[in-house]
Amino acid sequence: MTNQENRTASNHWRSTFGFIAAAAGSAVGLGNIWKFPYITGQNGGGTFVLFYLLCIVFLGFPIMVAEVMVGKISQSSPVRAYSRLSNQSRLWQVVGSIGVITGFVILSYYSVVAGWTLHYLFLSITKGFPQGSQPEAYADLFTSLYQSVRLNIWWHTVFMGITTVIVLRGVRGGIERVAEWGMIALFGLLVGLAIYSSTLPGFPTSLEFVFGQSAKFTWSSALEALGHAFFSLSLGMGAMLTYGSYLQRRDNIVTTCTAIAIADTTVAIGACLILFPITFSVGLEPAAGPGLVFINIPLALLQLPFGQIWLLVFFLLLSLAALTSAISLLEVPTAFLIDSLGWSRSMAASCCAALIYLLGFPSAVSGGEGFWGEGLKQILGMTWFDTVDYLASNWLLPLGGIGISLFVGWRLTYQQRKQELGSLPWLYSILVFLIRWLIPVAIVLVMLHALGVL
Ligand code: PHE
Repeated sequence: MTNQENRTASNHWRSTFGFIAAAAGSAVGLGNIWKFPYITGQNGGGTFVLFYLLCIVFLGFPIMVAEVMVGKISQSSPVRAYSRLSNQSRLWQVVGSIGVITGFVILSYYSVVAGWTLHYLFLSITKGFPQGSQPEAYADLFTSLYQSVRLNIWWHTVFMGITTVIVLRGVRGGIERVAEWGMIALFGLLVGLAIYSSTLPGFPTSLEFVFGQSAKFTWSSALEALGHAFFSLSLGMGAMLTYGSYLQRRDNIVTTCTAIAIADTTVAIGACLILFPITFSVGLEPAAGPGLVFINIPLALLQLPFGQIWLLVFFLLLSLAALTSAISLLEVPTAFLIDSLGWSRSMAASCCAALIYLLGFPSAVSGGEGFWGEGLKQILGMTWFDTVDYLASNWLLPLGGIGISLFVGWRLTYQQRKQELGSLPWLYSILVFLIRWLIPVAIVLVMLHALGVL
C-alpha cells in the first residue's frame, strides 16, 4: 500500500463534530486571545474591528470553504492536492509549497508566545505572581520574561517538544478528543470571564472602544486586519486544506465552516470584551502591545476569590488552545513530507519540528540585548519576532489566500465545485463570485494601498 492510500483509507475524522472541534482548535488560539486584542488596541479599536469582521465574512469564510474543499476532493496534503487537481502543474505546486514554508515560519515564533503561556501556567502553579494590584509590577513581570533569553529558549523547547510528540502520534483521534473537550471548556471559561468583565467600571468605555469609530485606522491597519483574518482562521497556508483532506464524502463543507468561523470570531471579540474593561478599569493603555493579556489577566484574576485557581485554569486553557493550533501548523509540512516524498510520520514530524525549533531561536531571543535581539532590531527597524510575524501574517497568508481562491475559482471544474457547494443555487453563485473576483481583487487592492502604490 502506498503512503497515499495508507493515509486516506482509514485516516478520517471519527465524526463531523470531531472535524469541527479540531479545525476550530486550529483556528482558535493565541491569535484570538493574545494577538487580536492587542492589535485592536494598537489600531485604535472600532473601525479596525469592523473591517476585520468584514474580512472574516467576505474573504475568510469563502476561503475556508475553498481550502477545505480542495482538501476534501483531493484527499491529499497541500502540494499534492494542487498537483493532483491540476494535472501536475508546476505552478500550482509552487503555490502549495509557499503554504508549507509559511507554516514553518509561523510556528517558529508562535511557539515562543505559546512558551510565555506555559511560563505563566507555571507561575500560576508555583504562586509566582506579585502581591497586590499594582499594574506596574505585572508589567515588569512580563518585561522580564520577554527579555530573558534563558526562559524564552527553555519554554520554546518545552512547547515544541509537546507539539512534536502529539504530531508524531498522528493528528486524528487524540486531537479530536483533546480539541472537543478543550474547546468546550475554553468557551465556558471565556463566558464566565466576560460576565465578570461586564461588571467592571471600564466596561462602557471598552464597548465604545471596540464598537465605536476610531481615528487611527490607516491602510496598513486594513492590511493588518485582513492578514489577521487569515491568521485567526488558519487560512492561506494549507492547515484547513490538510484537515479537510481527512473529511469523508458525506460531510457538508459549508455548514462545518460556518460553525468554525463563528466559534473563532466569538472568541476573538469575547477576548476583547474581557481584556479592555480590565485595561480601562485599572488605567492601563489599550495599545500596550504583546504584553496585554499577560499583564491584564493576572492583574484582574488575582483580585477575585480563588484567583489563583482561575488563573491556573485560564493559562491551562490558553496553552491548550495554542497547542491545538500549533499541531495544525506542524501537521502541514509533516503531511507534505509523508504524502509527497513518502517519508514515515516519525521521520517527517521530527525533521520538520527540529528545523522549526532552530528557526524559532532568533524569535526566542528577540527581546534580549545581543545581536539577535537589539542588534537586529537596529538593522530591521523592528525585532526579528515582529518581522516574521508581520511578513507571515500580513503578506504570506493573504498571498496564499489569493492562490487558493484563483485555484478553486478558475482551475477546478464546475462539477467539482457544484458537488461540494451544491444544493442552494444562490449560495453557490455568491461564493463563486467572491472566490473568483472579490477576494483576489480586494487583497491586491489592500496590499497596493498599504505599500503606498495607490
Ligand atoms: N489560527 C491560529 C490562531 O489564531 C494560528 C494559526 C495560523 C494556526 C495559521 C494554523 C495556521 O492562533
